[in-house]
Amino acid sequence: MAFEMVAVVGLGTMGAGIAEVFARAGLRVIGVEADADALATGRGHVERSTQRAVDRGRLSGGERDAILGRITLTTSREDLREADLVVEAIPEVLDYKRSLFADLDRICKPETVLATNTSSLPVTAIAAATGRQGRVIGMHFFNPAPVMGLVEVVSTVLTDPALVPEISELARRLGKTPVAVGDRAGFVVNRLLLPYLNQAAVLLEQGLARRDDIDAAMRLGVGLPMGPFALLDLIGLDTAYEVMGVLFDETRDRRHAPAPLLRELVSARLLGRKSGRGFHGDEPRPREPDRSTVITFEMAGEGADELTERLRTAGFKPSADPDVILRPADRPVIEHAVRLQDPARLVGVRVVGNRVAELAATVLTSQAAARAARDLMTVIGLTPVACRDRAGFVTDALLYPYLNDAVRMYDTGYASIGDIDAAMRLGCGYPAGPFETLESIGLAVVRDGLRALYAEYREPAYAPAPLLDQLVTAGVHVFPRA
Ligand SMILES: NC(=O)c1ccc[n+]([C@@H]2O[C@H](COP(=O)([O-])OP(=O)(O)OC[C@H]3O[C@@H](n4cnc5c(N)ncnc54)[C@H](O)[C@@H]3O)[C@@H](O)[C@H]2O)c1
Repeated sequence: MAFEMVAVVGLGTMGAGIAEVFARAGLRVIGVEADADALATGRGHVERSTQRAVDRGRLSGGERDAILGRITLTTSREDLREADLVVEAIPEVLDYKRSLFADLDRICKPETVLATNTSSLPVTAIAAATGRQGRVIGMHFFNPAPVMGLVEVVSTVLTDPALVPEISELARRLGKTPVAVGDRAGFVVNRLLLPYLNQAAVLLEQGLARRDDIDAAMRLGVGLPMGPFALLDLIGLDTAYEVMGVLFDETRDRRHAPAPLLRELVSARLLGRKSGRGFHGDEPRPREPDRSTVITFEMAGEGADELTERLRTAGFKPSADPDVILRPADRPVIEHAVRLQDPARLVGVRVVGNRVAELAATVLTSQAAARAARDLMTVIGLTPVACRDRAGFVTDALLYPYLNDAVRMYDTGYASIGDIDAAMRLGCGYPAGPFETLESIGLAVVRDGLRALYAEYREPAYAPAPLLDQLVTAGVHVFPRA
């Protein structure tokens, strides 16, 4: 089917961007809003977005005018009769969407494809409101739509199978990468991303580490574009809370239960950037860090050479009566501490990604030793991340379950390895997809890390996915790709 005339219903955050994407690709677009005021706001979104592109030299003034010229705006759904495709981007409320789809089904010509941009509602339930369930599909764009390169193409059991390649081809024509999946809560990206963000909130609540330390660990250590709390603030805590609720309703996995801390912040209307404050937004003025004058240290255990060398180069000397004993580790260090004459001095240290040093203080570690460890790491150019002495410290505890979820998702046949990797790279701006990350860390390392997490938290979902376990047992280092 040739899609020449498309319509977008709802020109809010997503719809305005989606209308722009279609118009940029040369299609004629009808934008529909609820009333004249909302229409003016929607027009403003598109005008500002295209003007920004001109200011940045990505569009010429003439191109911008041509794009805006292809978009017609209306408040009347009746104008959509001849559209080849309608993309719905109204608020995430099932009743609103079902009523809109029933109406579109009545108005539009029989061959019109009706698509929803829903993030978390079942596409099947929206399709069921129409008499053309074979021509209803999910087209899930990412925010901001003109920038993000992914479209999840979601088919239901009722969708005409021939429609999936047509919509995927259309997505390519828009310059996007399509990933075709079935109708499961969260699709690929939100199903893998949101539980990780939720888990960060759970760990914060449990006092594993402080907010900024967790953000720094994931951004600087793992190399993600943002820390989990900065990203939650961007997404909106209310949205994250709702999506987690939908995931939980489908899976009944207690890990998908929205973190109580999220509920608390949402109830307090601390929703993130949109309300001015969420996890972030109430920072006291940064305090000048206390500067230690002379710190002495001792290194214990294997893997100490490189850190010792860096500390020596920075002018510190190992001492027999140290302020802090640093023990390189990726597991809790309390057993080592209790063997020492003065366990208060021991801090576990683990360098992540060459920029972050996770510093695990045991229940016996003194504040002075913890502070000395932090200052030493700062001096040698590492960002210290203070955390409790728990399996996985911060980064593994957040990263490995996400990687495990990706393996389980692939193993159920929901999406291919290439599609899952592409979805996370393009949908979240991650530097690598989960399978690429798993292979670069090493399958056995991740499997063993998951075992340690499982032993610590007794969380069934942390048990290594059988496929991961079997590949490690078989001595295979990469995932089998079709
Ligand atoms: N915001 C995101 O990051 C994001 C990302 C991907 C998908 N989505 C999904 O996109 C959809 C829209 O989200 P959003 O963030 O753009 O919401 P939004 O609130 O910014 O925009 C919704 C728009 O729909 C309009 N609207 C409401 N009822 C209407 C009607 N009956 N007819 C025409 N217009 C109507 C509103 O006036 C508003 O402009 C939701 O389903 C959401 O889950 C959002």
